[in-house]
Amino acid sequence: MEWRVPLADIVFGEQEITAVTEVLRSGWLSMGAVTQQFEQEFAAFIGAKHTLAVTNATAALHLACLAAGIGPGDEVIVPSLTFVATANAVRYTGATPVFAEVESLDWLNISPTAIESLVTERTRAILVVHYAGFACDMPAIMEIAHRHNLVVLEDSAHAIGSRLEDRTLGTWGDIGCFSFFSNKNMTTGEGGMLATDDDALAARLKILRSHGMTSLSWDRHKGHASTYDVVDLGYNYRIDEMRSALGRVQLGNLPAWNERRRELTALYRELLSELTPEIQMPFAEARGTSCHHILPVLLPPGTDRAQFMEGMKAQGVQTSIHYPPVHRFHIYEDDWITRGSLLPLTEEISSRQVTLPLYATMRDEQVEWVARAARQALKET
Ligand SMILES: Cc1ncc(COP(=O)(O)O)c(C=O)c1O
Repeated sequence: MEWRVPLADIVFGEQEITAVTEVLRSGWLSMGAVTQQFEQEFAAFIGAKHTLAVTNATAALHLACLAAGIGPGDEVIVPSLTFVATANAVRYTGATPVFAEVESLDWLNISPTAIESLVTERTRAILVVHYAGFACDMPAIMEIAHRHNLVVLEDSAHAIGSRLEDRTLGTWGDIGCFSFFSNKNMTTGEGGMLATDDDALAARLKILRSHGMTSLSWDRHKGHASTYDVVDLGYNYRIDEMRSALGRVQLGNLPAWNERRRELTALYRELLSELTPEIQMPFAEARGTSCHHILPVLLPPGTDRAQFMEGMKAQGVQTSIHYPPVHRFHIYEDDWITRGSLLPLTEEISSRQVTLPLYATMRDEQVEWVARAARQALKET
């Protein structure tokens, strides 16, 4: 279907085509000089000491959990209002995700108070998600982590370029994980990045990324190493040079795109409060600088959401839901029922939430169209 206003869009041009073509002509297609440049530029952009490019953020999360020493018998506190990959990464290691409630209907991120109440002697880590690009309460979360000696991992898939105080999101905790999937603020098709300031964690991540081997083909090609040992049970989570080339171009454009997303979000806030004051737009409070990955709203309680979304579709507006709560998915339900944790806010948000279109090339008139469409769709529910 041709949408009048799609949910998301990517910006690709001649720069990306040239960059990828150059890689193809170079004859070196995986983990070479372009990936090193991409990693260095990303490190400089977010202010991290080490960065490692990987196949996707799910792989990044998996490696982050492994490098942090998370394994069978451990518990990791995670939000339920997230993409399932966050919790799956914990399960891959044999550990158990423990779902924590969000802060409020206005701030849809994991609550420090909820985290504190879930800490047990088995808790090993807190894995936060900066939903929609908005910051979790990192000072409070870091304080809890220090007090209980817990690792902090950041799922920053939504938060490329978001900041809180003097730091970029993804650099507050021990390891940050970023996604370059096609719907993200910058994309390489599939792709991800790990970030850490810790030398030992970086070394472990690097080995785990490539089969547990102590040297890469690139090192051997450059004459830095002639052979290798295998010292850990690693994976092949390497990125390729074409994706890194795309990433370098996209990263260069990201600040301008994030700024445009900020302007569009401000316009949405103005128009929705005027045209549909019943629709709640979370994250009204000022806390850091978001990269505005998505535009989540909450429909009035009792609204037939499916009908609202149909009404938007009829007016050419694509919408989505972020997210069905992970603790309600079939493979998580047993754990959750056994533990009996109650997440009433998460469940309420998940039942009322709709994501409206937001992308860097969106025009002001399109925001106006979406806001008017929302008013009409709400009337018809
Ligand atoms: C919050 C969150 N975590 C993790 C992921 C997984 O990212 P990837 O698709 O790069 O594996 C996503 C992707 O959509 C996400 O939104």
